[in-house]
Parts: sequence; C-alpha cells; structure tokens
Amino acid sequence: MDAPEHTELRQVVVRSALMTGVERLRPLIRRHVDELLAELARLPQPVDLVERFTLALPVRVICDLFGVPIEDRKVFERCAVIVARRSAPGIEVAAAYASLTEYLGRLVDAKNEKPADDLVSELVVKHYRTGRITKGQVIGLGLPLLTGGHATTAHQLALSVVSLLRNREQVSLLADPASVPALVDELLRHLTVVHFGLRRVAVEDIAVGATVIRAGEGVVLALQSANRDPAVFPDPERLDPTRGSRGHVAFGYGAHRCPGQGLARAELEIALPALFHSLPGLRPAVPFEKITFEEDSLLYGVRDLPVLWDPPPGASDCGKRSE
Ligand code: HEM
Repeated sequence: MDAPEHTELRQVVVRSALMTGVERLRPLIRRHVDELLAELARLPQPVDLVERFTLALPVRVICDLFGVPIEDRKVFERCAVIVARRSAPGIEVAAAYASLTEYLGRLVDAKNEKPADDLVSELVVKHYRTGRITKGQVIGLGLPLLTGGHATTAHQLALSVVSLLRNREQVSLLADPASVPALVDELLRHLTVVHFGLRRVAVEDIAVGATVIRAGEGVVLALQSANRDPAVFPDPERLDPTRGSRGHVAFGYGAHRCPGQGLARAELEIALPALFHSLPGLRPAVPFEKITFEEDSLLYGVRDLPVLWDPPPGASDCGKRSE
C-alpha cells in the first residue's frame, strides 16, 4: 500500500497506545518471561526451546496486546507459518488468509460489542466506530500485526540463542544491562530474519554504483545483503556488539519501516538475559549440524531447538530423560 492511504492507516497503528507506550509493556513481558522460564525449568530435559520459550513468548505477548485468549493461538500460529512458506501452493495461502480474515472479523465484532483494554478495541472504538476506517481496514491492519508481530520476533529470538551458544564469549554481556541493547542490535543485523526481497518501485531515477534505476522500474531489496555490506560493517560475518550496528536495516527503511521494532527490541532485551541467567550451562542437546532451520520460509528461523542445562545444585536426576 502507498501514500496517502498507507500514511493514514500507518498513523492509526503508530499513534496507538501500544506503539507509543512500549516502555509500559516491559513489566508484562517480564511477567511472561518469568512464567515461561519457571514452567520450562520444571520439564524433563531436553526441552524444545522454540516451542516452550522463543515462540511461546511473542505469542503470549501478542495475545495480550490483541486481547485474544491464548487458546486461539493455534489459529494464527498455523496461518502465519503457511503464509510465510515459500513452497505453499497459492490455494493454501489463500485459505490461510481467509481463516485469518474470518478470525479477525469475529474479533472486531466481539470488541465492538464489548471493548476492553487492548489494541483491537482501541482501533474499533477510536477509528471504526467513528467512521474513520472501515471494518475491512481494521482487519487489514490486524493481519500483519498479529502474524508479523509474533513470527518475526520468535525467529529472531531463537536464532539469537543459537548465535550466542556459538559465540559464548558474548554471553557475559547479557549480565550488564547497559550492554544488552547493542548486543541485540548486532544480533538483529547479523541474523536479519526478514530475508525475502522487499519490493519497491523507483519514483525517480536513482544511481546505485554504476547502475541507474529508472523511475517506474521495480527493485527487490535484500536486507540481509545490506546488513552484511563490508563497506558499512567491516568483517560483517563476525558477531561484534561493539561495532555500533544501530544503522542496520533489519527493520526495513523508510515509509514502511517496522512500527513494531520497539516491542520486538523490548522482548529481546528482556528475554535473552533472563534465559541465560535462569538456565546456567544452557547448551544444545544435539550437534549444531542437527539443528533444523527454516529453509522454506520467507522468515529465516529455527524450527526446533532441543536444549539442556545444568540442574540446580542438590536437584535429583528424577524426571531427567536419558539422551
Ligand atoms: C525482530 C522482530 C521484527 C523484525 C525483524 C521485523 C521486520 C520488519 C521489516 C523488515 C518490515 C518492513 C517491510 C517492508 O518494508 O515492506 C516490517 C514491517 C512491519 N512490521 Fe515488523 N518486524 C519485527 C517485529 C514486529 C512486531 C513485534 C510487530 C507488531 C507488533 C511488527 C509489525 C509490522 C508491521 C505492521 C509492518 C508493516 C509496516 C508498514 O508497511 O508501514 N513487526 N517489519
């Protein structure tokens, strides 16, 4: 979608209580992180960290923000996977979008009947009831927020854990709150989960190196290449939190730059230190080569991440599964 329609609808999201008040959400994120880690610590090892933590956290947060019961997560989790799968037949993708649209339509009706303290209610009360936007537009806004709002963060969190397990010298940075934001930014640059090409049309002639892109021509932008451009990030393959990676484009650039970046950063900045602190000796339960990555998705990620950690001193081995 382009300006002016895009600008107007984007303002609705960017000015919502959710996007302007991300700092207020930190205690809620912290509560979910603590609960998930307490549940996880009670499970027999090994545990799939994706199912129990890196996917579960953004899903719980997005459910709270949307005011949807956690039992509904299967609907949008499944559809988010299908719409991001590169090899999914068009008919399956269309069916997934239809399910999501139907689900969001019911949600908008429910919130219209009984508004609560959540993002969808805010969109309904402030913008739909007042006639500023249509029901279809509320649904259209809800789609990327509900799916993009959990799947991207989930993949970024899981890949960040794998990265830190392979770059253990960086784990100590998590103990210093002042170092965490720079580490998170470097992980965002290094991993760049949105690795499909973003499509744009040039509105005027632009010279890029020796090539001139003419007005009206289409371009496909590879964020992952930009984030590993050695002219901007020397020795780009190296994970280096001291390099000052804040200028990365993992959240895109320009008019469509991710409006959820504050929320995503907050989740990563809270979850990563808490995870490594709560589970000392955290390590993969399988050799690195056996970890399964999302090879067929528009979003780069980890499919399963079986992990082990040191039991607390004095804990018996009861319940520990043999490997
Ligand atoms: C690590 C997590 C995340 C990453 C890496 C990420 C990345 C991106 C990128 C690259 C874009 C730009 C797409 C384009 O230019 O076409 C984008 C757009 C968007 N993101 Fe995110 N995102 C993340 C988390 C979130 C969250 C938590 C939310 C919402 C709660 C969200 C909502 C959106 C929306 C609605 C757009 C469309 C914006 C527009 O077109 O104006 N994202 N995201």
